[in-house]
Amino acid sequence: MKYSCIRGTGSYLPAQVVTNYDLEKKIETTHQWIVERTGIHSRHIAEDHESALSMAEAAGRAALAMAGIAAADLDMIIVATTTPERVFPATACELQAALGAGQCPAFDLNATACAGFMYGIGIADQFIRTGKIKHALVIGSEMMSRIVDWSDRRTCVLFGDGAGAVVLSSSDTPGIMTTCLHADGRFVDMLNIPSNLGRPTSRKFTGQAVLNMQGNTLFRQAVNILGGLFDETLAAGGVSAKEIDWLIPHQANLRIIDAMAKKLDLPTERVAITLATHANTSSASIPLALDGSVRDGRIKRGDLLLLEGFGGGLAWGSALVRF
Ligand code: UT7
Repeated sequence: MKYSCIRGTGSYLPAQVVTNYDLEKKIETTHQWIVERTGIHSRHIAEDHESALSMAEAAGRAALAMAGIAAADLDMIIVATTTPERVFPATACELQAALGAGQCPAFDLNATACAGFMYGIGIADQFIRTGKIKHALVIGSEMMSRIVDWSDRRTCVLFGDGAGAVVLSSSDTPGIMTTCLHADGRFVDMLNIPSNLGRPTSRKFTGQAVLNMQGNTLFRQAVNILGGLFDETLAAGGVSAKEIDWLIPHQANLRIIDAMAKKLDLPTERVAITLATHANTSSASIPLALDGSVRDGRIKRGDLLLLEGFGGGLAWGSALVRF
């Protein structure tokens, strides 16, 4: 029986930091509102020369170095991103060439938005378990600053740019104990970015092609859905909440994260929280939080981790991981 395990992690954040106070000067908002309603203090915003690809490459190289794996040894590359520079080919194909990896399958996951990284883990884990592949690079890389409306205070204050990566490798012992993936397309209107690509002229979208979010409704859905997802994941993995050492949540709102920690009865110091300085980096938020806590020594080999992501689709997913 084969399993997959997380052999290396990596991440990248653009150097430029934009604080809530910086935003106060541009839009009608306050540091106090943003902190009280979200937990966000600042976010990293990319420079013009950066892209989802360049950030994915930096995060991917760091994960490969930690794993001690050469790019040529990769059997699969998955990039979760909602901000590719081209509709096709996939950012993952460009990354494959940039890294000098071989002719392994390489593809993007974009429809799953903030849950994209969890979908990537779920897919790579299945390929490794069946023995089809040995090493997969799974990345979340997002240029949220390029798809938000910077005049819309309800959304622009919430997001940031960045990338996170893991190398999943074949292992005789679990690693990834279980993954759970879901979507519910009845809620497409809650969080989306409209586009004219593929639309007939008669139904052209005339508004701004930027991120739309029904924040309040989404908040309630997130708390409900994630509660059920935790129960499902623990049952599928055959473990109790008491056994979880670390929660690595998607970073959308500190109030959602607190509610989830409470459900698991986990103290805050056992939750990887990056929201204050990263804001919401969509599919990059989970691997960014994971890499940060691994590199500063808080998460140790053998710890039991619960990873969860939730976003547009609606789509959501989780993984129970023996690190
Ligand atoms: O990553 C994908 C998943 N995303 C989520 O799960 C996000 C879930 N939702 C949320 O995190 C929260 O709903 C938000 C942080 C987006 C919003 O917080 P909220 O407590 O739900 O606020 P609200 O949207 O109900 O707005 C409350 C008030 C409104 O004013 P009125 O209508 O009551 O006068 C807003 O206009 O706050 C106002 N407001 C702001 N005020 C200052 C909204 N944005 C801002 C702002 N600064 N940036």
